[in-house]
Amino acid sequence: MSAQQDIKRLTAPDILARKGGAPIVCLTSYHAHTARLMDNYCDIILVGDSLGMVMHGLETTVPVTLDMMILQGLAVMRGSRRALVVVDMPFGSYEASKEQAFMSAVRVMKETGCGAIKMEGGKRLAETIAFLVERGVPVMAHVGLTPQSINTIGSFRAQGRDEADWPRIEEDARAVAAAGAFSMVIEAVAEPLARKLTAAVAIPTIGIGASAACDGQVLVLEDMLGLSARVPKFVKRYGELGPSIEQAVATYAEEVRERRFPGPEHTYPMRGKKA
Ligand code: KIV
Repeated sequence: MSAQQDIKRLTAPDILARKGGAPIVCLTSYHAHTARLMDNYCDIILVGDSLGMVMHGLETTVPVTLDMMILQGLAVMRGSRRALVVVDMPFGSYEASKEQAFMSAVRVMKETGCGAIKMEGGKRLAETIAFLVERGVPVMAHVGLTPQSINTIGSFRAQGRDEADWPRIEEDARAVAAAGAFSMVIEAVAEPLARKLTAAVAIPTIGIGASAACDGQVLVLEDMLGLSARVPKFVKRYGELGPSIEQAVATYAEEVRERRFPGPEHTYPMRGKKA
């Protein structure tokens, strides 16, 4: 057996077993190259439907299609070997019925080879989650701020800032956990609520803008690398790649215009002659 085959990919049950243990590291990726760079460090690589906004310049995630998710999910699977790859189900691919959700999830899993899917929603999705899990589809749930609902909620604002909203969000978290989700993303909620939800469920909570009280964290890679024009307040920038890329492009453009690139060291010599 080759060394390559020795690497065992993490599974949904491996992540479930991490509840209350070592914090779970998760980042988004939509490509083979970024997946390859993060694979050694991340437990989960999430192919988020945020790709619609980050990669395609869309205003929201609503227009993202199943085909877009499958194409990028496949790329991430090719670029990674160790992390559990979770692919987001886009708006409109799972809400109509549990059967629709199952058929969409089957397409994603068969066509990408990913280990799990993610769906946005709480209590209203519990029956669907149970249906999928019983049929072999590991589900990561997503509660708190659910960006696919932007047209009904009106803005991407934090959830549960008013304590009166807590019972509804807690009910959502308890319902998806009881339905069999192996983990859940909690997006944009204040720390005391994140702590309460994390204590209330027996599955790992993965926070984004939800404090260190969660069992793990996820960020959108381009946001933390300084590649996104606008980022939510909770994002910490771990790099500033935007300015570096722009500088590299500007230098290249200048050298091309001044005929300084390609120089002899980047030009093929004739056979038998030194460059
Ligand atoms: O689409 C996405 O990238 C996500 C994360 C922000 C959790 O759902």
